[in-house]
Amino acid sequence: MSGIWGKNVKISIFGESHGVAIGVTIDGLPAGIELDLDYINLEMQRRAPGKNKMSTARKEGDQFEILSGYFNGKTTGTPLCSIIRNSNQRSRDYDKIKSIIRPSHGDYPGHIKYDGHNDYRGGGHFSGRITAPLVFAGALAKYILEEKGIIIGGHIKSIENIEAENLDYVNIDKEVIKGIKHKELPVINDETGEKMRSAIHSAKEDGDSVGGIIEGLVLDIDPGLGAPFFDSIESRLSHALFSIPGVKGIEFGLGFEISKLRGSKANDEYYVEGETIKTYSNNNGGVTGGITNGMPIIFRVAMKPTPSISKPQRTVDISTMENTEIEVRGRHDPCIVQRAVPVVEAACALTILDFFLEKERVE
Ligand SMILES: Cc1cc2nc3c(=O)[nH]c(=O)nc-3n(C[C@H](O)[C@H](O)[C@H](O)COP(=O)(O)O)c2cc1C
Repeated sequence: MSGIWGKNVKISIFGESHGVAIGVTIDGLPAGIELDLDYINLEMQRRAPGKNKMSTARKEGDQFEILSGYFNGKTTGTPLCSIIRNSNQRSRDYDKIKSIIRPSHGDYPGHIKYDGHNDYRGGGHFSGRITAPLVFAGALAKYILEEKGIIIGGHIKSIENIEAENLDYVNIDKEVIKGIKHKELPVINDETGEKMRSAIHSAKEDGDSVGGIIEGLVLDIDPGLGAPFFDSIESRLSHALFSIPGVKGIEFGLGFEISKLRGSKANDEYYVEGETIKTYSNNNGGVTGGITNGMPIIFRVAMKPTPSISKPQRTVDISTMENTEIEVRGRHDPCIVQRAVPVVEAACALTILDFFLEKERVE
């Protein structure tokens, strides 16, 4: 079932953009975890739309309600269900274009797969809005991992052709990474951030959109988590990250660039510091043999430009099977990268928590 993910902590995501509500049921959470609702709310607000000119005008508070699995401020260990009510829909924006399929969106494949029964309004179940429940579940996972001392973070590596400087993957400043979540634009260097902001505004003025790259990090993770082959850290992280709408590429450590180096430059050489084995470089992004090696996990996710743009584009009216043009007039982000950063962190946190619960059950 495509709406269900996970082995040890299982999440089931449901809802449509213009339905009554969207939500998630989380199964397998340990009992007795005291939840910090302000912490979860901050993560939700980082993703929520309508906060500035870089985002869609659809104003949704993304206020969550917990329906089950939570009692006296703590998880009960039974399925925890949370919903976010939809309140700011404008379904008429979609009535006019319901049979005119948006290039690069899920309209056409969804229509074929579901025999035309899919809720097309606002992209239905294909909408980026369905990532709100993912962020809710991920915030819980992130919180549980933080209690274990593991930090999950993310920042914008690039927007269109504007690139942030490379991080030193061996010495990452934890406080800088933690501080990013309080920024309107989740970047490390605010000057580069301003250039990225201009690129987003310029695309918006042109009725167009831009994409970019998000870099995700897992800090202070012990060695030994993961497995070789099919359940490697890279495979399971990629499964979760590729589930995010708009993700078109993933790489770990130096990623594709590592193929240009000789072994002598690519290898992460070891040294010992006290009781700990470390590496001088971190070109493998903290994972070797599918298992964490104790260095920070580093990965990058490429997000495509927002499909819905107001510039005219060629397409097909599937009710008449005629060629036509589309100019999408609804409320859409000229760039989804900044809002997708907490979504990427959420997918990462859920994956790492899933590995942890597996380890705890085996031990
Ligand atoms: C946080 C977030 C917000 C999004 N907002 C929009 C949007 O406003 N308009 C749009 O056309 N696509 C938006 N998307 C992207 C589409 O949902 C996505 O491109 C579509 O479902 C097709 O999936 P694919 O790109 O993975 O093939 C958003 C994605 C995310 C993660």
